Amino acid sequence: MVIRSQIAGVGSYLPARIVTNQELERSVDTTDAWIVERSGIRQRHIAAEGETTSDLAFEAAKAALAHAGMTADDIDLIIVGTATPDHTFPATAAKVQARLGMTKGVAFDLQAVCSGFVFAMATADNFIKAGQAKAALVIGAETFSRILDWNDRGTCVLFGDGAGAVVLKSAQGQGTTADQGILSTHLHSDGRHYDLLYVDGGPSSTKTTGHVRMKGNEVFRHAVVNMAEVVGEALAANGLQSTDIDWVVPHQANIRILEGTARKLAIPKDRMVVTVDRHANTSAASIPLALAEAVNDGRIKRGQLILLEAMGGGFTWGACLARY
Ligand code: COA
Repeated sequence: MVIRSQIAGVGSYLPARIVTNQELERSVDTTDAWIVERSGIRQRHIAAEGETTSDLAFEAAKAALAHAGMTADDIDLIIVGTATPDHTFPATAAKVQARLGMTKGVAFDLQAVCSGFVFAMATADNFIKAGQAKAALVIGAETFSRILDWNDRGTCVLFGDGAGAVVLKSAQGQGTTADQGILSTHLHSDGRHYDLLYVDGGPSSTKTTGHVRMKGNEVFRHAVVNMAEVVGEALAANGLQSTDIDWVVPHQANIRILEGTARKLAIPKDRMVVTVDRHANTSAASIPLALAEAVNDGRIKRGQLILLEAMGGGFTWGACLARY
């Protein structure tokens, strides 16, 4: 028998305020047509004044616990994937832990930008497989609106705010691909490319929070290649073909990256969960937001094979193959 991390529940939260491309046209030198054609994005949610990453994460965590039929008392690990923490320290996860009324367990943040959720799933899965945790809240939560340069049309139109969460719980499996739960995770980083997508601030370098800076077309090229490679790696590790996958839940950066990756892997578009049109790029939150949507609307069903894949600043990239 092997230990598997089963997905017990999913949840998400989006700030109430929706900003459409048309609204952005009024303050940024851009057009709805350009944004839709280059990215597939039509609108994004933006956190209210005073609404922080931990607020979003807390709401998503509550929803995931309710969906799992569990309470915070059942949880002994919280990992929040975020690049936009409430404070430099302590961890946003510790704030979520306190708001959930937890006085035990371990809570920390993980920073892999847009790959943050996949990295957090891999970390929680390893804690559970090692017997160090029994049940984990894995959260991706971001308020990227706070680190955007609203005068840089090449970046500010592409991102949004939100949070998603998954409850993982320890379960016994046979060690085959028929088991429910995470089958494998695959992570990569390559720090040589940090200046293609980074924030030009930070406590140690500039003492400021800084803004997102990106060489969009170069990121684009790396994204499709890296994501296709890591998906191939995940399939090969489990002796599976892309045709075995029921649903791909990709990081939602740009519809052209999603479609390019799917094409490279010969995965039909109708087996890919897409939210980028409504959420834009919510960094670490985008995968759990998309996952929660597709589970809650009945597309993703128990027993189906799902593949999560992401790429982000660093560069970081990774995949997580699971049977829901
Ligand atoms: N509205 C109108 N024009 C814009 C614009 C906007 N919001 N942003 C950039 N432009 C202009 C540029 O100034 C440039 O004009 P020029 O030719 O006169 O210099 C032109 O559009 C083309 O810019 P370019 O950056 O080459 O466009 P692109 O086809 O590469 O599309 C992105 C830009 C950002 C949409 C695309 O590169 C992309 O999606 N990259 C990946 C980004 C990403 O997903 N990052 C996160 C990964 S986790």
